Parts: sequence; C-alpha cells; structure tokens
Amino acid sequence: MRISVIGCGYLGAVHAATLAAMGHEVVGIDVDPGKVQHLAQGVAPFHEPGLDELLQDGHATGRLTFATNPEAARDAQVHFLCVGTPQDKTSDRADLTFLISALETLLPHLAAGAVVVGKSTVPVGTVDMLRGILAPRPDVLLGWNPEFLRQGTAVKDSLVPDRLVYGVEGGRPAAFNAATGAPLGVAAALDAVYEPLLAAGIPRLVCSFATAELIKSAANAYLATKISFINAVAGLCDAAGADVTELSEAMGLDPRIGSRYLHAGLGFGGGCLPKDIRSFSAQAATLGVPAVQDWMRLVDGVNLGQRERTVSLATELCGGSLAGRAITVLGASFKPDTDDIRDSPALDVADRLAAVGAHVTVTDPKAVNLAWRRYPRLRFEASIGKALQGAELVLLLTEWDEYRQLCPAVAGQQVRRRVVLDARNVLDAAAWQEEGWAVRGLGTPAGVLKAAAAAR
Ligand code: UGA
Repeated sequence: MRISVIGCGYLGAVHAATLAAMGHEVVGIDVDPGKVQHLAQGVAPFHEPGLDELLQDGHATGRLTFATNPEAARDAQVHFLCVGTPQDKTSDRADLTFLISALETLLPHLAAGAVVVGKSTVPVGTVDMLRGILAPRPDVLLGWNPEFLRQGTAVKDSLVPDRLVYGVEGGRPAAFNAATGAPLGVAAALDAVYEPLLAAGIPRLVCSFATAELIKSAANAYLATKISFINAVAGLCDAAGADVTELSEAMGLDPRIGSRYLHAGLGFGGGCLPKDIRSFSAQAATLGVPAVQDWMRLVDGVNLGQRERTVSLATELCGGSLAGRAITVLGASFKPDTDDIRDSPALDVADRLAAVGAHVTVTDPKAVNLAWRRYPRLRFEASIGKALQGAELVLLLTEWDEYRQLCPAVAGQQVRRRVVLDARNVLDAAAWQEEGWAVRGLGTPAGVLKAAAAAR
C-alpha cells in the first residue's frame, strides 16, 4: 500500500520504518528539515536500538522516503497522524495544536477516498473534534489506532505488538459486513496495512472512537499506577525495615499481579506517562469522574515524591549537607536505551542536588550531548571513569547495563568515598559491600545506612 506518516518523532519515525519493512511504500513527513535530512540518510535523529538498520533497509529498497512538503503525501491511500501531544504549558491537559495543524495541512492533499488514522495519544473526544476539520471531505474516512510502543524497544514493539486497536465510526458493529463478517472501511484498510502482523496471530480489537482513545490513556495510567503502588510500598518497607525488592519479586510471581512495572525506585519520567496521567486526570475532571481524577493525582504525587526521597537520602548520606560535596550521577536519560531526557527523573534529581550547592557530575552512555546545554548547573562527562573521579557519593539514577555491570572494585579506586545510592535498586548490594562500599537503595533495608555512616 502507499502510506504517509505525518510527524517523524519517536513514534512516527519508527512507525514509518516498520511499515516499510512490512512491504509498504511509505513517505514520512515532518516540518523539521534537519530531522527529515537525517532520516532520509538512514540515520535516526535519536537513539533507538535497531532503528538505523530498519531505516537503511527502507532506503535501500526504495520503499521509505521522507519529505517536509505535505504534498508528498498526496498519493497515499492511508495517512497516519503521529505528531506529539505534549502537556499544555499552563494546565494538565494535552496540547492538541500539532495534531490539529497536521490534519489541516494534510487536508488539501488528500486523494478521493483516503483513510486518515490517528496514532497519537489523545484525550477522549478528540476524534469528534477532528471530524469537524474533515467535514469538507465526506469521502475521507477517519480511524484511531493507538500506539503502545516503548522507547528503547520501539522496533520490536512495532513489529511484534501485543495487540492492535482500531477505533472506528460506529464501533465494532459498523466495522464488519453483517452477512459475511468481512471488514469494511477503516477496519478493512487497517487490516490490509497490518496484514503480516494479523497473519502472525497478533490480536486486533475493533471498538468505538471513545473506547480506542480511552484504551491508550487507561493502559498508561495503569502502568503508572503499578509503578507508584510499589514505590509507595517501598516507603512502607523503609519505615518497617523490610526489603521491597524481595517483596515485589514474591508479589510478581502471582500471575494475577505479574512482575513487570513492579520495580521500585526513582519512578517514571519521559514524554509519555507523566503527561498522560495528568491529561487523564484532567479528562476525568471534565467528565465529572472524581475517582479517576484523584487516583491519577495520587499516582503523580507518589512518583514525584520518589525524587524528593532520593534527594533527602543523598543529603543524609552526605552527613546532612550537600554544599560543596562532589556527587557523581550515573544516568541522564529518563530510562535506559534511549537518549530522551524529557522529564528525566535522573536530571531532575541531579539538578536539585546542584541547586543546594553540591558539585554534580553526570554521565550517560547516550544523552550527555543533549543534556549539557539544558542543565547549566551540572557538569557532564561522557567517560564513566572520569565522571567517578573524586566522588564522595555515587547515585545510580538510570539503570543502563553499563552501570548495572559496573565493577565495584574498579569504581572504588576512582572515588573518594565508597558510598552509592542505588535509586533503581539494580546493583548486587552484597558484591558492592564486599568491596567496602556503603550501599543504599529505595525501600531496601535501612541497616546498610550504618555502613554509610561508618564511611563518612
Ligand atoms: C510508555 C508505555 O509503556 C508505552 O506502552 C506507551 O506506548 C508509551 O508510554 C507512549 O505512551 O507512547 P515509555 O514512556 O517509552 O512507554 O516508557 P516505559 O518503558 O513504559 O517506562 C516509563 C518510565 O517508567 C521510565 O521512566 C521507567 O524508568 C519507569 N519504570 C518502569 C519504573 O520506574 N519502574 C518500572 O517497574 C517500570
């Protein structure tokens, strides 16, 4: 099929490349000429494992092109809207400006009978509003197909998704021929797009627009809930002298609970979960459902509280004052395997430490070049060895493999004081303690603090 993808950020670039890998002829369109130039040369403008290879394959087969001019989309049969819906600058709501402008820009270039499908995360009711923009083109079909990919595993998540969701006008009953069961309209077009995935047995669910919009928001809200739940329990473990890592392992073995997103630590960040739970809360307020509104506020509050807790533990580990102390922070991206620093818990904590006078050096395998301009109070160092030199406290804030596998003996030779705050609870505390390190986690036994006190 001939397909256009409007917006080539984390979502759109991966979607365009995977559609080309499935055999479609794809044009990716973005207003940013720098991004388009990179993508056209087969180089992802951000770090995403496996994406460069996919872009290069698409380039080599000639099936994947990129452009800034929306006219390049005119021959496409299906258009995917993949632009960002960030948090509004002055409220908890999602900012739909990019989405509206993408559709308005696309409008004059739509061929007769084209299908427009949104993938961005949007508040419920958005599709109804977009319908108004499409009113002058009654021949154009509109669908909603939320995306569930995670940064860092986006290529795999797109090629082998857990499910496909199609939101269509009239919901499920309208999507199939009553007599034959054959898909109609948007459902038929999306079945053709995702034919290889459906053939591989990926489940597809067809529903109304409102349900499709809410499925995505509710899924992110639930993931955030799980993370904040275990982080709240980590606070309880700290107070009671229990170990949250053992507790979550035992809880996760119950298949009704499951162990994923039940890892206690510094909490979530990034361009999705934080803004999506706030938007979900704002939607609930508008719709008069205070339970969801309050729930999301609590989840957000617990999450931000983990950053606060990390700062106060760091202060405690430095003997009550951070002024003038040399602190090394391992990790700048919001999670491993991405260079995305949007709402990064690691950088937030690092900056708060620097704000009260600590000399903070941050290292990261991929994000240093993006982060240094935005955080003038922090010192950045690409080499982990150099970053550790002279540290009085080491904070592990993003669990890159490099940091999980760090040798405590080697690291110990570089620092001034062997004290580590593992805010992601990923280090083998016993191995580090054997090398003379005082180790502290979030929700892990407070007894190790004694060792930390001894190290002061
Ligand atoms: C999230 C969802 O997982 C995707 O399904 C969704 O498509 C995407 O948002 C989106 O809306 O576009 P992503 O933001 O890439 O994906 O990141 P996740 O892997 O979900 O991690 C989010 C945050 O939670 C990270 O900061 C991570 O460190 C944190 N996290 C995750 C925890 O603190 N504990 C956990 O146990 C798991």
